[in-house]
Amino acid sequence: MRITHLQLTDFRSYEAVQVELGPGVTTLVGRNGHGKTNVVEAVRYLSTLSSHRVATDAPMLRSGAARAIVSGRVQRGERALTLEVTMVPGKANQARLNRGNAKPRDLTGILRTVVFAPEDLALVKGDPGTRRTFMDELCVALQPPLTGDLTDYDRVLRQRSSLLKSARGKPRFDHSTLDIWDEKLADLGARIVHARLAAIESLAPHVERAYADVAPGEGTCSIAYSTAVKVAADQAEPSNEAGAPTSATPTSDIGAALLATMTERRSQEIERGVCLVGPHRDDLDIRIGDLPAKGYASHGESWSCALSLRLGSFALLSDDGDDGEPVLILDDVFAELDTGRRAALAGRVARAGQVLITAAVPEDVPDQLREHPGGHRLLLVTPGHIAEANDKVTE
Ligand SMILES: Nc1ncnc2c1ncn2[C@@H]1O[C@H](COP(=O)(O)OP(=O)(O)OP(=O)(O)O)[C@@H](O)[C@H]1O
Ligand SMILES: [Mg+2]
Repeated sequence: MRITHLQLTDFRSYEAVQVELGPGVTTLVGRNGHGKTNVVEAVRYLSTLSSHRVATDAPMLRSGAARAIVSGRVQRGERALTLEVTMVPGKANQARLNRGNAKPRDLTGILRTVVFAPEDLALVKGDPGTRRTFMDELCVALQPPLTGDLTDYDRVLRQRSSLLKSARGKPRFDHSTLDIWDEKLADLGARIVHARLAAIESLAPHVERAYADVAPGEGTCSIAYSTAVKVAADQAEPSNEAGAPTSATPTSDIGAALLATMTERRSQEIERGVCLVGPHRDDLDIRIGDLPAKGYASHGESWSCALSLRLGSFALLSDDGDDGEPVLILDDVFAELDTGRRAALAGRVARAGQVLITAAVPEDVPDQLREHPGGHRLLLVTPGHIAEANDKVTE
């Protein structure tokens, strides 16, 4: 699939700009702070309705503007689709699909993107929340309806947490209200845990291969879903991995295990006023050899791991579904990589259908990419404008 046209209105530094995007490699070149990342952030926004840089929409509205609009045309197989999102502060986003009104969640999953950016070092070195977001985005790309479960889970989690807080210090608290929320949380939580288990099991071999490409001779990178939920909680020893669920575990068994653990830990949860069990507490275990990447991997190894997670995702999604190959976005990454890793990345990119690259100087982009079979195009970015190299400014 690819994005063929992008139009931004009051998005970040752009008042109004539009650009046609072709197959092959498109490199956006411009000085620091001139707006290159803003363009690829908008493309990624159309695919996930979230930014790879910020957690909320507010910073994406051009300063002083009342709303921001991102719209794009996507070619997926034989289908051409037009996606549009309007962000209005303090209100729900408005979405349009093929010029008709739509729910924002209807848009997610149509355009697939895989973004690799300097922020991705946090996938290895950062908090578990970053890795959970990574897993959830992959799950949604593979299975778009999961968006609804994730949103519902967040809502139920907040409601149950506030109920736990209100139960604290009240001996007469009616526990049956909590029972209802426990069931909802276990039901939604099980679906999320199951989707993550399946996604990570499918991703693991791709990540291992990507790491072997990117960091040859530097050990093996393995990933696994890490959850405190044990399907045979009553039999398994606390240190026994035997109870860890897999994608073959029925969702109902995961739900039952979640519910049992919640019941077991209820007094602890009330005492602390937080939900102590569920996918919001899980993590992605990343290892190089036998050691966890976090806390042990060198800077270069951490980069290779992060890159492999993204390249692995790209490979997995490319194999999945009709014209599932995502648009590959490499935001400012070549400057960060040594020669060997650059070449390995360029080698993989050479097989991708549409690649968007940002770089402060064109020399950062490996020559190999200029010979991409889909063509190579250079776009010059200056504040508020995008221009074809050797062409006039696009307003
Ligand atoms: N909401 C906004 N309103 C107006 N301008 C903004 C907004 N958000 C960011 N900018 C401006 O956009 C510019 C940053 O753009 P961007 O991050 O795309 O730069 P870049 O070309 O990728 O730079 P670098 O090469 O350093 O990565 C900054 O000058 C910033 O002030
Ligand atoms: Mg940038």
